[in-house]
Amino acid sequence: MFGVVLCAVREFYRVSAAALTSVAIGVQMKALVLAGGAGTRLRPITYTSAKQLVPLANKPILFYGIETLVEAGVCEIGIVVGDTWREVEAAVGDGSRWGISVTFLRQEAPLGLAHCVLIAQDFLGSEPFVMYLGDNFLVGGVQDFVRSFQQDQPNAQILLSKVSNPCQFGVVELDSQGMVRRLVEKPTVPLSNLALVGVYFFDACVHEAVRAIEPSDRGELEITDAIQWLVDKGKSVRASTVTGPWIDTGKKDDLLEANRIVLDMIESRVDGFVDVSSKIVGRVVVESGAQVRDSVVRGPAIVGKGALVANSYIGPYSAVGPDCRVEDAELEHSILLKGSAVQGVRRIEDSLIGRGAMVGRSVDQPRAMRFLLGDHSEAHVCGS
Ligand code: TTP
Repeated sequence: MFGVVLCAVREFYRVSAAALTSVAIGVQMKALVLAGGAGTRLRPITYTSAKQLVPLANKPILFYGIETLVEAGVCEIGIVVGDTWREVEAAVGDGSRWGISVTFLRQEAPLGLAHCVLIAQDFLGSEPFVMYLGDNFLVGGVQDFVRSFQQDQPNAQILLSKVSNPCQFGVVELDSQGMVRRLVEKPTVPLSNLALVGVYFFDACVHEAVRAIEPSDRGELEITDAIQWLVDKGKSVRASTVTGPWIDTGKKDDLLEANRIVLDMIESRVDGFVDVSSKIVGRVVVESGAQVRDSVVRGPAIVGKGALVANSYIGPYSAVGPDCRVEDAELEHSILLKGSAVQGVRRIEDSLIGRGAMVGRSVDQPRAMRFLLGDHSEAHVCGS
């Protein structure tokens, strides 16, 4: 209730401001955010947790997407959740922290992006909406795209980004007018270097499309097939290219890259304790309850609430999560999730360490490496 009132107030000022500047911003648009899926490429993290909740600079990726939508004026979001629904629902809550209302839509299995539209039809009704993949990270916002979609009212509007490895994405071929001609999911021979960004705008025509298409060879209702169906039926499907960075954070290195981009934008803040023998260099956030002792933290970096960094070096592009312990260690360009520990190890780079995980130095005889790794874990050791 509180969220809806806040949203109404926000909308009043937004519309008033728009009227004053003669900018035609339309009515509020609902958003559908996808936060289910299998997350196979991010195992073993996704065995126990939702990939959309993996943090970038200690804030879940999903929250960046929600905030992008809120900034664009969206007040009502439906979030598709799968097996990890408990965790996603607990993290997001009712949306009041952003002044919006949130409805959770349970998907019984990860049956595809178009299947998400199918199960969301009652929530979406027959109004135009924006669909946002909860694991996508986009810098620069979607405000302009919302505005152009509302002004020009095509049946669908997709966003594209130029990539160097198109075979790993949904790829789009445009005609000479810049309208969409063909879409192919992960083509063996790329049609272009234009990858589909995980933000889509649709009007009610998409509901007919998702009902008409058949599951693909991988057993999913593909959104690319639904959009192709719209193109083949002569509907207007427009494409706009994003200019800022876009990352589909399906894999570890993509997450590290998104984390790097967010950390590059942080402002220094020290709310925790830093002792006199420690050195903080560059833009560093030390959150409340965190302790930095006898250490160097070179930013951009963040040390989360309640974490301890002792006799260690934390290098650029590191995010040390809440309640982590980094002792006698060196760390750079890595993400440590809540409650993990790194002790006596020099040096860790390019790593994602799961919640409560421990990386330590073995002192027992015989000298050997000792592991307890979950299924699909990766350990890359170096030295003798
Ligand atoms: P994907 O990354 O395409 O799929 P996935 O999450 O199953 O991951 P993987 O390929 O590693 O197994 O999904 C994009 C986003 O959409 C992501 O936030 C998960 C969400 N999603 C759903 O909510 N339901 C679905 O059926 C699918 C396929 C994805």
